[in-house]
Amino acid sequence: MPQPTQFPQNFLWGSATSSFQIEGATNEDGRGESIWDRFCQRPGAIADNTNGTVACDHYHRYKEDVQMLSTLGLQAYRFSIAWPRIIPSGRGAVNEKGLDFYERLVDELLNAGIAPYATLYHWDLPQILEDNNGWVNRDTAYAFADYAQTVVARLGDRVKSWATLNEPYVSASLGYRTGEHAPGRKSLTDSFAAAHHLLLAHGLTIPIIKELAPQSDAGIVLNFTPCFPEKDTPQDKHANAIQDGWDNRWYVEPIVGMGYPADTVEALGWNQQEILQDDLNTISAPIDFLGVNYYTRSLVTADNRPAAAPLPKTAMDWEIYPQGINETLTRLHNNHNFKQYFITENGAALNDMPDQKDFVDDQNRIDYLHDHIKQVHAAIESGVPVKGYFAWSLFDNFEWAFGYEKRFGIVRVNYETQQRTPKASALWFSQVAKSNQVSRDL
Ligand code: FCB
Repeated sequence: MPQPTQFPQNFLWGSATSSFQIEGATNEDGRGESIWDRFCQRPGAIADNTNGTVACDHYHRYKEDVQMLSTLGLQAYRFSIAWPRIIPSGRGAVNEKGLDFYERLVDELLNAGIAPYATLYHWDLPQILEDNNGWVNRDTAYAFADYAQTVVARLGDRVKSWATLNEPYVSASLGYRTGEHAPGRKSLTDSFAAAHHLLLAHGLTIPIIKELAPQSDAGIVLNFTPCFPEKDTPQDKHANAIQDGWDNRWYVEPIVGMGYPADTVEALGWNQQEILQDDLNTISAPIDFLGVNYYTRSLVTADNRPAAAPLPKTAMDWEIYPQGINETLTRLHNNHNFKQYFITENGAALNDMPDQKDFVDDQNRIDYLHDHIKQVHAAIESGVPVKGYFAWSLFDNFEWAFGYEKRFGIVRVNYETQQRTPKASALWFSQVAKSNQVSRDL
């Protein structure tokens, strides 16, 4: 049997969720409406016509859920804070009950010895701000900074890691360009403005975190999808370079002070009118860590020919390409030299088949996690300072436009009973966390 692969001392093993995907209780304790509540009402927006009203009922079951993390021996938990719970009308009055909930959650985690990793924005914008043009409106960035200030002032003494945004690429591209996500708008021009204002929100917030919580790390979570030309033709290569600019460089390059990728800006025809003086300076505030979300790769073709996708796929139809996580980390580190990296999301939706006791023997998910974790180790070996790995997701949950049909959890959730049952992958991952080493047969 091959030797297990040992991770560096103090490497952090955790799992991740987000507020709208698990909390439910959307009408409780003064929470305001979010763009996802509204979007779910739109006919055809969500594949199974569901919504986040109950989700995993985590708002009521957070104690049990922290207990689950603890039983599995995980050392960190990444979650997000719902802006509409804290400031229901987007700006202004603070809803103390919303803050209280996250305070209870954080204290519960700390009592269990689990490090809270908070994300301030995982897509649930207050609807009232969207009524005022959402992220296309520059004011939303300032509203975000105020909201962030409120949260960090309350929890900054206990939460030692703060991410401003989760995947601004998805907010801007799927929310404002393709319309697949809330708020469901379809305008390329609007998506440029949204992307810029999201980055501005991030840049305004980093110094606030550093000031209010000087002992905490402040960073951002970005998604990366390495892409390759399908064919070795000048046309496919050109299309690939542009897609790489939009998918993989659009956010990270301004953050490190390089501005937006010029080739892609030109190819897509953005006139950059939203960039005001000093914005690029604000956006490039130094960060303590980069959170990397990684799931798959993509093959790119010119003129939108359908691309081949020869590798085995997950239930999302995403190709399984484990070395991409190493390639992504290595490329980021070579180009930008961030102080530390976390894999803030990695995982797979698969067609789980529960037995009569609701147990899922998901050997395929173990394969996926194992193969990716090994590639994270390879990146560390080659000098990339990766400090932790969060499996997406702790629970099956509301997978956005796919509703509850796609299950990413290492813990199964039975939506009729809300019963949580660790899958084989959770038991395996628990061994990884407890032993700080990885092997397929733990
Ligand atoms: C990421 C999201 C996360 C989840 C996974 C599958 O883009 O951050 O909420 O939906 O994909």
